[in-house]
Amino acid sequence: HHRVKNNLQTISSLLRLQARRLEGEEAREALGESVRRIGAISLVHETLAQSADDEVGFAEIVRPLVRVVEESVSSPLRPVSITVEGDAGVVPGQVATTMAVVLTELLQNAVDHAFPAAQLADQEAGGTDGDSAPGWVRIQLDRRADGLVVRVVDDGVGIPEGFDVADATGLGLTIVRTFVEGELGGRIRLVPVERGRGTVAEVWVPTNRLVGPWGDSRDPG
Ligand SMILES: Nc1ncnc2c1ncn2[C@@H]1O[C@H](COP(=O)(O)OP(=O)(O)OP(=O)(O)O)[C@@H](O)[C@H]1O
Ligand SMILES: [Mg+2]
Repeated sequence: HHRVKNNLQTISSLLRLQARRLEGEEAREALGESVRRIGAISLVHETLAQSADDEVGFAEIVRPLVRVVEESVSSPLRPVSITVEGDAGVVPGQVATTMAVVLTELLQNAVDHAFPAAQLADQEAGGTDGDSAPGWVRIQLDRRADGLVVRVVDDGVGIPEGFDVADATGLGLTIVRTFVEGELGGRIRLVPVERGRGTVAEVWVPTNRLVGPWGDSRDPG
């Protein structure tokens, strides 16, 4: 695990060095996002390195991940509060790694899209003296007989009408779809909050990926 961690740090440093040389804001941001994604993976490896076997209580990953996202996005102009409810139970290291990246994307989306700049511009214009309520994001963990359900719920502007995850072309949801459906054999859906405003992003991972031989499959590194 130490070797993996060092490799991840090396990759992050390379990307940062490269980002510094770029002129284009978009390209710099893209590399910044990669550094953030690698950060989520490093976090799981750090936690796994402290445990004797290749399994981890997923909540142990979620909490530090939330702190990182909060620190990177929350500001007086953009107050976002993220809470965690429920318990995900123990998952194999590989699932924890994959789900950490997935969760990071869903959190990033809630922060990026649920509370758009228009609201912030209002505040910046000095019209209101900070009376607009901060946005909230809730992570709900639910370990059930049929698997693990992770929901990221926000009270933001909601997804566009007729929105379908299957058609989403952004990199974030493409990563989420590939990982959840391809690697974990699970399902992802984005739907409006039933009563009220906002979006629910729900990921389900089937039980057969959470127990059994996968739990023992060791990373050759
Ligand atoms: N919580 C949310 N609230 C409102 N809209 C959302 C939310 N999550 C996703 N969306 C919508 O889904 C689109 C696709 O998301 P996706 O993560 O794939 O791409 P992106 O965030 O635009 O770009 P990238 O992830 O590559 O930075 C977003 O542009 C946004 O319109
Ligand atoms: Mg995104």
